[in-house]
Amino acid sequence: MNEIVEKKVWWQDAPAIKEFEVKAPWIAEKHQAGQFVVLKVSENGERIPLTVSDKDVKKGTINILFQEVGATTMTLGRLSKGDKILDLTGPLGKPTHIEKFGTVVCIGGGIGVAPVHPIAQAFKAAGNKVISILGARTKGILIYEERMRKTSDEVRITTDDGSYGRHGFVTDELKAMIESGMKIDLVVTIGPAIMMKMVCKVTEPYKIHTYASLNTIMLDGTGMCGACRVTVGGKTKFVCVDGPEFDGHQVNFDEMMARLRQYLDEEKLAREICQKNTCGVR
Ligand code: FAD
Ligand code: FES
Ligand code: MG
Repeated sequence: MNEIVEKKVWWQDAPAIKEFEVKAPWIAEKHQAGQFVVLKVSENGERIPLTVSDKDVKKGTINILFQEVGATTMTLGRLSKGDKILDLTGPLGKPTHIEKFGTVVCIGGGIGVAPVHPIAQAFKAAGNKVISILGARTKGILIYEERMRKTSDEVRITTDDGSYGRHGFVTDELKAMIESGMKIDLVVTIGPAIMMKMVCKVTEPYKIHTYASLNTIMLDGTGMCGACRVTVGGKTKFVCVDGPEFDGHQVNFDEMMARLRQYLDEEKLAREICQKNTCGVR
C-alpha cells in the first residue's frame, strides 16, 4: 500500500487531469527516465500503467500524473491526500537510452508532457542541448511548463486553439525548426498515438532518429499476457518489456491504434457504471 502525500488537480473539467505524489521509496531509488509503474486501485479493479513523471529520492516519493479517461483513472482520481493506492509495482520497462547526442528535441503532447519530463532531465544531465515542444488543446490544460523550463535550454509551446504559443500542432513547430536549418540529432515524442505517428512522419525524410514511447493497453506489465503487443520493424515486440520506447520510424502505428480501440464498448460500459457509483472506492 502506497500513501498519497500530495494531490494536485491540474484541470477540473472532464476529462480531469490530476497528479499524485506517492510514497514509494524503493521505486524512487531505482527508477530511471522512461520507466513506468503499474497500479491497481481496488481489489476487483484492473491494473493500469502510468509513467513516473517526477520523483524525490530523499523524500522517497514518486509523482504520477493522469487524465481521467475511463473507469480506473476516474476511480484513482477520487482518492485524496492520505489515502493509499492498493498495489503499485515498478519501476517497469526499459529506461530511455541516454547519451550525449547533441541537440535533443523532446516533444510532449497533452498529458504526454509529464512522461517526457524525466527524459528531458536525463538528456540535459548527459550534456545535451534540450529543446522541448509542449502541445496542448488550449492554454488552461498545459501541464508541467515550469518544470520543463527548468530542464530545457528552450521551450516552445503550441496550442490547437492559438490561446498560447504557436497556433497549431507540435508537428508544425517541429517542421518549422527543421526547415529553418536547425541541426537536430534526436527527437523524443510522447503523446497520443496519432501525434507520435505524425511526428515520425515529419522526421523520417530527414533521417532524424526518433524515439516514440508507446502507450498500448497493458495488463501484467511483465511480458506474459501479450496485451501490449506491437509490430516494430516487422517483428512482434511487447511494449512492457521491450519498450516502452522504440524507433518511431519502425513502429506500425495503424495496428497499434486499432488495438487501442478494441475494448471501446466494454470501456464505455465500465465508465457509465463508474459514474453512477463508487467503483469500489469509498
Ligand atoms: P478506459 O476507459 O479503460 O480506457 C481508455 C483508453 O485507454 C482505451 O480506449 C485504451 O486506448 C487505453 N487503455 C485502456 N486500458 C488500458 C490499460 N490497461 N493500459 C494502457 N492503456 C489502456 N496515462 C496517463 O494519464 N498518464 C501517464 O503517465 C500514462 N503513462 C502510460 C505509460 C505507459 C507505458 C502506457 C502503456 C500507458 C500510459 N498511460 C498514461 C495511459 C493509461 O494507462 C490509460 O489512460 C489508462 O489505462 C486508462 O484506463 P481507464 O480504465 O481509466 O480508461
Ligand atoms: Fe502483458 Fe506486456 S502487458 S505482455
Ligand atoms: Mg479501464
